[in-house]
Amino acid sequence: MPTATALSAQLESIGQSALAKYIAGVQGDGADLLFNELQQFDLDDIAQYINTYGPSFQPTPPADTIAPAPYFALNDKSWDRVTYQKKGEELIAAGKVGCFTVAGGQGSRLGYEGPKGCYPTSCVTDKSLFEMFAQTIYANERKYNAIIPWYIMTSPLNHEQTVAFFESHAHFGLDPKNIKFFQQGVMPSFDASTGDLLLSDPAHLATNPDGHGGAYKALHVSGALEDMIARGVEHLSYFQVDNPNAKIIDPIFIGLHAHSPESSGEFSSKMVAKAHAHEKVGVFCRIGDTLSVVEYSDLPQELAEMTNESDELMFNAGSIAIHAISIAFINKIATDPSYALPFHRAVKKVAHFDPATGLHVDPPEPNAIKLEQFVFDAIALADRSIVVETDRVEEFAPVKNSTGPDSIETSKQLQSQRAANWLAANGVTIPTNTDGSVNAAIELSPLTALCNDDLKGQDLPESIEPGASIQL
Ligand code: UTP
Repeated sequence: MPTATALSAQLESIGQSALAKYIAGVQGDGADLLFNELQQFDLDDIAQYINTYGPSFQPTPPADTIAPAPYFALNDKSWDRVTYQKKGEELIAAGKVGCFTVAGGQGSRLGYEGPKGCYPTSCVTDKSLFEMFAQTIYANERKYNAIIPWYIMTSPLNHEQTVAFFESHAHFGLDPKNIKFFQQGVMPSFDASTGDLLLSDPAHLATNPDGHGGAYKALHVSGALEDMIARGVEHLSYFQVDNPNAKIIDPIFIGLHAHSPESSGEFSSKMVAKAHAHEKVGVFCRIGDTLSVVEYSDLPQELAEMTNESDELMFNAGSIAIHAISIAFINKIATDPSYALPFHRAVKKVAHFDPATGLHVDPPEPNAIKLEQFVFDAIALADRSIVVETDRVEEFAPVKNSTGPDSIETSKQLQSQRAANWLAANGVTIPTNTDGSVNAAIELSPLTALCNDDLKGQDLPESIEPGASIQL
């Protein structure tokens, strides 16, 4: 460990005078903790980030060559689903596909005390998100007679609770050897007007998780990539922890990703048609020759609202954060500096300890910059990346907010709707509301069916009573 004098001089040299002065005087256990934390970062890199994203930040001007992205459309029968499904199934059965869940977020909009994956989410029995995914993996392992390892990224804020949750539920019947938890990194938060690094208390830096894009580095440094390579895993099915309808093992998507000539097999994505022009989802676009996700807040309003001759949105390819990513590509992003991802900056309220006065500050207004990376920024670095359309009800029931859109109520309604669609396709009469939505809570376990075809030949009710609450 460097001496206080050396560390203080280094901080001074990167323009962090206030912290340098504090470090020079701090002693005891607090000093050790703080020194250790500072050691985790390359201070020259941090200085560079503060220079770029701090008080003299210049936003990138909006691209002027932005066009809708091409995609494999749901109603386009010209591409050969049967062949790609077979190719995807072969990869899964050969143990070449793993699952990857990003679960390091703070879930602040939901306001749930605890990791979001533990949130009771299934529509009748209140299974947690983690249990629903675990059962889906279990059912796929049974179907393909293969091991599907599951990689779960947590953050320092929720790692221990997440691991304890799995342990207390006996890993939901999965073999713990095939589940690997690892933590994402953090970034130091800094003052928006001075660029000064902030302390959360006298002995700790104020930090924030480095975003889902921190996954690339974390997969590498945690040894998860090595584990995948040792197992012969070649592709990851990536999904977020808050979407219980995600089809987390989808042979057609994996087959297209790995084998279609349009794809370099590095990074592929799923989309749904946007519900309306201002739905808060990122949109797949082409900027020049490059495929990108443009955040909803960055898509100019006139483009968001632009329609074609059939009155459909031109920029309608909404991202649902489901991707297939090759291990080789992850390795490249994690280790090759020419593939470094950009940071996104957010100005947030960060309570902190002021080393100059020794007082705790609770700012009334946003005062600090938090930097995060986004997984989908890697799309632009892939040789050929594809986007595949899927059905909204089939695959997108996010739990983001405590009430209103994308809340537990809307998610449960969508989960029931998907179950109702599968049952209706197998001859079951479904009660509906006047707007056509299902009038019942229906929970279909992944152990019962992974898709509507799995219900064929099963013992199903003839009909479901209006307002019923049933599980199958
Ligand atoms: P969100 O962008 O919805 O953020 O994350 P969040 O933290 O879950 O929720 P809010 O915004 O505080 O309400 C999308 C997905 O990315 C993961 C989340 O766990 C979720 O699965 N994520 C997000 C990470 O793994 N790490 C991060 O640093 C941020």
